[in-house]
Amino acid sequence: MLHAVIMAGGSGTRFWPASRRDTPKQLLKLSGDRTMIQATADRLGDLVPDQRKMVVTNAALVAAVRQQLPDLPVESIVGEPCKRDTAPCIGLAATLIAAKDPDATMLVMPADHVITSDADFQKAVLAGEALLDEDPTRIVTFGIEPSYPAESFGYIERGETLGKADSAAYRVTRFREKPDAATAQQYLAAGTFYWNSGIFMWRCSTILEALQKQMPEMMEKLENIGQAAGESNFSEVLEREFAAIEGKSIDYAVMEDYPNIVVLEAPFRWDDVGSWQSLARMNPPDADGNTVLANHLGIDTRQTIVFGDTDHLIVTIDIEDLIVVHTPGATLVAPKSSEERVREVVKRLTEEG
Ligand code: GDD
Ligand code: MG
Repeated sequence: MLHAVIMAGGSGTRFWPASRRDTPKQLLKLSGDRTMIQATADRLGDLVPDQRKMVVTNAALVAAVRQQLPDLPVESIVGEPCKRDTAPCIGLAATLIAAKDPDATMLVMPADHVITSDADFQKAVLAGEALLDEDPTRIVTFGIEPSYPAESFGYIERGETLGKADSAAYRVTRFREKPDAATAQQYLAAGTFYWNSGIFMWRCSTILEALQKQMPEMMEKLENIGQAAGESNFSEVLEREFAAIEGKSIDYAVMEDYPNIVVLEAPFRWDDVGSWQSLARMNPPDADGNTVLANHLGIDTRQTIVFGDTDHLIVTIDIEDLIVVHTPGATLVAPKSSEERVREVVKRLTEEG
C-alpha cells in the first residue's frame, strides 16, 4: 500500500524573521490560505488516506503540527529529539511503516515546496507506482527542468528512456548533490540534467536495504526504535537512540551511489520556497511590482516585498527593491540583493544566545 511521509524538520533560516525556531516556514501561510505543511498533506487528494500519512519533524514542533493536521493519527506525527538531516528521518519513517506493512510503498515529500496542480502531482505519483510495480528495487525521483546553474540542488542525469516514447521516464546515469558553480554550469549546458525535486518513491524494503548498506550503525539504532514502537518506553528509546545517529542527507547517503534510480520528468510546476524572493514568484506582484502579504500602505513604493503576519500596519514611502518583514518578535529591512545574507542573522543570534 502507498504511504506518504512528509519531512518537516528543516529550519528555513533565509525566511527570518517570519521563520523562527517555533514557526519554521513549513508552518506558515506563504501563499493561499493553507500553511505549507497543510498544502503538502492535501496535495495527495484521495490517493493516500490520513491513516497512511506520516510527518517527521523536530520534537519541539510536534504540538504545532498536530494542531495544523488534526486528522492525522496522533502517533503518525513523529518528533525527532535532534536534527540529523534527511537520511535518519527517512530511515525512521521507513522502519515504523515497514513494521506494520512490510510491502509498503513510500512517497517522501518535503513540507516546504509549492507545487501546482494537485491533480498533476497525483498523476506523477501514479506513474511512480507503476514504475515500482515493474521493478520494486527501483528508486523513483522526480526531475525538474533546471532554469539556472543552482548550487543548492541535486542534479540528475537522464539516460536511456523507459518504455513508451511519451512516458517521460528515464534511467538515471548519475545523481550529484549540490555541485559547485562550474559543474552546475556544465550540467545546465549539457541539457540532459534535471534538478532533483527532493520527492522520492520506493518500497520501504528497498530504502531500508540501501541504508543498511550505507549506514549500518544508524540502522541498528533505528531497529531498536522500531522495536519500541507502541510500547510505553517509545519516546525514551527514540530520544536515546536517535541522538546517537550520525547526521547525513539521503542525497549523499544513498542517492549518489544507488545503482537503480529512475527519473520521471515532473508533470507539475515546482518551486522550492527558499527565500523572500521566492515569495514574489509565488504571489503575483501588484501594478507597482510589489508583493504584499501584510496590512500595507505603500506611497511611491516599487518592486518591494512586504510581509506581516498580524494586522499591524506597515507603511513604506519612496522605496524600491526592498524586503520589509514585520512580525511580533522581530523586524527585517534589507535590499533584495542582500537576501542571501539573511542566513547570517540566525547564525549571529544563535552564537550570541
Ligand atoms: N524531519 C526532518 N529532520 N526533516 C528534515 C531534516 C531533519 O533533520 N532536515 C531537513 N528536513 C526536511 C526539510 O524541512 C525539507 O522539507 C526536506 O527535509 C529537505 O531538506 P533541505 O535541508 O531543505 O534539503 P535541501 O533543500 O538542501 O536539498 C534537498 O532538496 C532539494 C530540492 O529542494 C535535496 O534533496 C536536493 O537534492 C534537492 O534538489
Ligand atoms: Mg530545501
